[in-house]
Amino acid sequence: MEEVRTQVAIIGAGPAGMLLSHLLAADGVETVVVESRSEEYVAGRIRAGILEQSTVDLLRASGLGERLELEGDRHRGIYLQWPGQRHHLDFVDLTGRSVWVYGQTEVQKDLVAARTAAGQQVHYEIESTALHDLETDSPSVTFIDAAGAERRIVADAIAGCDGSFGPSRVAVPEDVRSTWEKVYPYSWLGVLADVAPSTDELIYAWHPDGFALHSMRSESVSRLYLQVPNDTPVSEWPDDRIWEALATRLGHGQDGWTMTPGPITEKSVLPMHSFVQSPMRHGRLFLAGDAAHIVPPTGAKGLNLAVADVGLLAPALAELLLKGDARLADAYSDTALRRVWRCTHFSWWMTTMLHQSGDPFERELQLSQLRWVTSSEAGATGLAENYAGLPIGF
Ligand code: FAD
Ligand code: PHB
Repeated sequence: MEEVRTQVAIIGAGPAGMLLSHLLAADGVETVVVESRSEEYVAGRIRAGILEQSTVDLLRASGLGERLELEGDRHRGIYLQWPGQRHHLDFVDLTGRSVWVYGQTEVQKDLVAARTAAGQQVHYEIESTALHDLETDSPSVTFIDAAGAERRIVADAIAGCDGSFGPSRVAVPEDVRSTWEKVYPYSWLGVLADVAPSTDELIYAWHPDGFALHSMRSESVSRLYLQVPNDTPVSEWPDDRIWEALATRLGHGQDGWTMTPGPITEKSVLPMHSFVQSPMRHGRLFLAGDAAHIVPPTGAKGLNLAVADVGLLAPALAELLLKGDARLADAYSDTALRRVWRCTHFSWWMTTMLHQSGDPFERELQLSQLRWVTSSEAGATGLAENYAGLPIGF
């Protein structure tokens, strides 16, 4: 077996893993990244679309802000609506913070470009990833590389950035880890369409037929979502049915607002769940991003939480490995989990406020809550503070 030594072995080349590699390199810490998929597959996955203020601040501060500056679209807030009502929440007025439309695919491209330019070693299309000796100062990762060779990376620390199905999360012994999980009784049908958005900022719509969201990727590409029952086959939703449901739920015709349909280029069904695993560190294994927690997408938090974890983890590992100072590393799990639980609550709250569960009592509570967050400054500020994002380290 071919063996190499590095300071941090990073499992997963998604946004958490690649950003960690980038930040650690800036601190002078060497990493090797391993990834089970191909570079093209990781780059092409259509996922999150909204960056919160602290994510943008961190990307800019680490030299990744150039294209974001040119191509990202800063939004002051969002629209919240239900039949007959549409309200704008202005996060800048309410909290002084804003959000940016800049897709995860773009963030990933920027990260890959920066790491490639720096000569970063990334092993794509690997198999049989396994973690070893986590409770020692020389943990290692073994895998079979794309050419079929068995390899071992011996490191000072391992970063588990391998998402919700990777091996890192379950490498924490069962008697050490606690997990919390909630599966929601609905999913999202997400579509990407080659049509200019019919709105300047995102619209989150409560509707008796089910939730709908109008988001976007650029001036000519719209991203739209519809609440559908779990396990809905995409084949049940031909394009005409999708546009009809979007028009109804988003209020086509309401106060003169119109929605323009266009060619749909991608369609998929996303299940929704919340998941948290604690602690986020075991010995020399540190978990970050979806490897440690999953949120339903209604609060636009998944990618932002991954970035916030890495924003804490990079300095913690640098202090540990370069100066032998373990204070930040020892505090990492507790510090990260404080924000994780805040975002877990916010995502659950947005989700349960906006989706139809079929319970008439809950429906009245939802409408009452929507009236409150759109008419009370205190209510609106709470939503704005969470959506635009709390500072990293909160
Ligand atoms: P990931 O992006 O999942 O990256 C983990 C990487 O690890 C992957 O590339 C994976 O291939 C790799 N890996 C897995 N197993 C192994 C292994 N054994 N060995 C090596 N590598 C491995 N968030 C939002 O905010 N808004 C959205 O609209 C939204 N939509 C989403 C849609 C989908 C279908 C999914 C799955 C997630 C969505 N999210 C959304 C969440 C957001 O995309 C994630 O929170 C974000 O990608 C987390 O980044 P990460 O790097 O932690 O994990
Ligand atoms: C998206 O653009 O994909 C998006 C935006 C906001 C969300 C979820 C997804 O809450």
